[in-house]
Amino acid sequence: MTRDPSPRWLRWPTDESRPRFAYGADYNPEQWPREVWREDVRLMREAGVNIVSLAIFSWARIQPTADSWDFDWLDESMDLLHSGGIAVDLATATASPPPWLSTEHPEILPVNELGQTVWPGARQHWRPTSPVFREHALRLTTAMAERYRDHPALAAWHVSNELGCHNVYDYSEDAARAFRDWLRARYGTVEALNTAWGTDFWAQRYGDFEQVLPPRLAASHPNPTQQLDFKRFSSDALKDHLRAERDVLRRITPDVPVTTNFMVMGETKGMHYADWAAEVDFVSNDHYVLPGPQARDELSFSANLTGNLAGGRPWFLMEHSTSAVNWQPVNVAKREGELARDSLLHVAHGADAVCFFQWRQSAAGAEKYHSAMVPHAGPDSEVFRSVARLGARLDELAEVVGSERRPARAAILFDWESWWASEQDSHPTELLRYRQEALDWYSAFLALGVRADVVHKGASLDSYDLVVAPILHVVPQDLGKELTRFVERGGHLVTTYFSGVVDENDHAWLGGYPGALRDLLGIRIEEFAPLLPAESVTLDDGTVGTLWSDRITVTDPGVDVWATYRDGHLAGRPAITRRALGGGSAAYVSTRLGVEGLSVLLGRLLTAAGVASELPEAARGRVELTVRRAGDVDYWFLINRTDEAVDLSELAGERLAQEAGERPETLAPRGVAVVRRTGPTG
Ligand code: GLA
Ligand code: GLA
Repeated sequence: MTRDPSPRWLRWPTDESRPRFAYGADYNPEQWPREVWREDVRLMREAGVNIVSLAIFSWARIQPTADSWDFDWLDESMDLLHSGGIAVDLATATASPPPWLSTEHPEILPVNELGQTVWPGARQHWRPTSPVFREHALRLTTAMAERYRDHPALAAWHVSNELGCHNVYDYSEDAARAFRDWLRARYGTVEALNTAWGTDFWAQRYGDFEQVLPPRLAASHPNPTQQLDFKRFSSDALKDHLRAERDVLRRITPDVPVTTNFMVMGETKGMHYADWAAEVDFVSNDHYVLPGPQARDELSFSANLTGNLAGGRPWFLMEHSTSAVNWQPVNVAKREGELARDSLLHVAHGADAVCFFQWRQSAAGAEKYHSAMVPHAGPDSEVFRSVARLGARLDELAEVVGSERRPARAAILFDWESWWASEQDSHPTELLRYRQEALDWYSAFLALGVRADVVHKGASLDSYDLVVAPILHVVPQDLGKELTRFVERGGHLVTTYFSGVVDENDHAWLGGYPGALRDLLGIRIEEFAPLLPAESVTLDDGTVGTLWSDRITVTDPGVDVWATYRDGHLAGRPAITRRALGGGSAAYVSTRLGVEGLSVLLGRLLTAAGVASELPEAARGRVELTVRRAGDVDYWFLINRTDEAVDLSELAGERLAQEAGERPETLAPRGVAVVRRTGPTG
């Protein structure tokens, strides 16, 4: 049989050709006696599970000493799963080194910025740049690939696990060496490094690359460009590990797709996933709901960004939770309907796989209070029944599998470098939160019932009518030009406070802020005016700003002042400006308006850009809409954001996989409807 040389999705067993969602979990059979394994497979079948991720934390079992291997238990588990029709996303098992390795080679242990060793006892205690760790990890990867290359259950390779979850920043001697190599490759000469880092400041001029260190504990603010480069380097070091394991796998099993689970979620920011996405055969993500008023908005934001990192193609939700987690200060259980809604929200944004951490809730260990598909209570539980219902529902939705995301007309531009740079120390305020600002804009889109894509910098903006670029802090010359072209071609751009301020070396653009975007926006700011935590400013449209304000001078006659400050020392001066340019426009928002204020502003911006909600009036704000498309069929996912039923009678189309007892014209509280619509515009 000939196989696609570059598989983009799971390699299902050959006798399985119908499209189906992958459904399952991390599976840790080594935590349980053999009898339980058989019960597991029976229950997996009952729940509709067809895939598990295996051996993620099994290194100590597979390789009990440097020179001995024990694959018997894993062979047995793989065979058992296969006989039950369950495919395996097989880990390389390198995520957490066993005690013998860290005992024999303590030089693999990470060192924090204070010079303290990160000891074994938890997991993932390894330096991304350790040559010794790399050698052992690749030896294990090779052994795994050779052992299971022809196993019929093997559907994909799972490199390590959540690379960077606990070890993204390492300040060890290995890290120092690798950082210097990285800097040599980036700058070529120490002179170029001195220029980029601005080392004439505070007598930091280097005479040789050997003098350079990671930004370890210092007497005062470490050099900002050194810090930014260390973030770039640390992400690259983990990416390098990913590539090293992947290359072993591709050499031995060229026809098996390789993935690794990203953590596009909350404030996890160390890994530049936009830069990693091209390294895997398909994108996978882990997501956990973070408590708070924007909990589900954040889920949607993350899923949306993941879908765009995957280039609009289907992606794999590798982990989320059936109910509570164990690592938040208070771990809240999900309410009725939330398990399915959370899962389907990921599907709505392009996931073709829905997996949980984990299959069976551990009886021992640090995660024993983390929910699972089979809870401590056993299968006679509401969680397991919900899990089985979801499995059946995914089966009924199988025709959606393979469909791509249908782009929106509006986008939020997300930029890792601006995230990293804007939140560094020694800034006008330490209170700025890049991702929160982006999420607030996203919540405003949801509140107005308008779809928006969360796209990373570098993705094409051509198809968008409106692009919001919150806190686009790092604007190299090229990006400034690209945004100008976008506006000149008729696009509508909106940006905010602290945007356009620095170049790629974190050097301020001179002549007035917003630096690289000053001409495009037609405004000039001589000095920032950040606000104290208790301060706020009222705008003349009644909205309220916090965190930041700017003393703006309008420099271009084409600029309209959309709102002025009503109070404070900037009273009467512009707070929100918009410059019309050809058919397009460039707007600037100088303060943090929050979801409520942004919803007011966004309404105006959307009207001016000619972008409207696709939802019936009654559903706007209460329902999130996403669209997946296959040929001329659109699948509208309608997700109830509220605890009340929503009337959908104005929405034409055929409803798929309705839950028992649901009426077709109503969306149940916390419910999800999938509607098939045909035609050129859906
Ligand atoms: C001190 C130092 C200066 C400068 C200022 C900044 O006074 O002597 O070099 O760092 O603080 O406030
Ligand atoms: C991460 C890890 C899992 C597990 C979950 C718990 O996602 O990959 O091994 O620890 O967190 O939420």
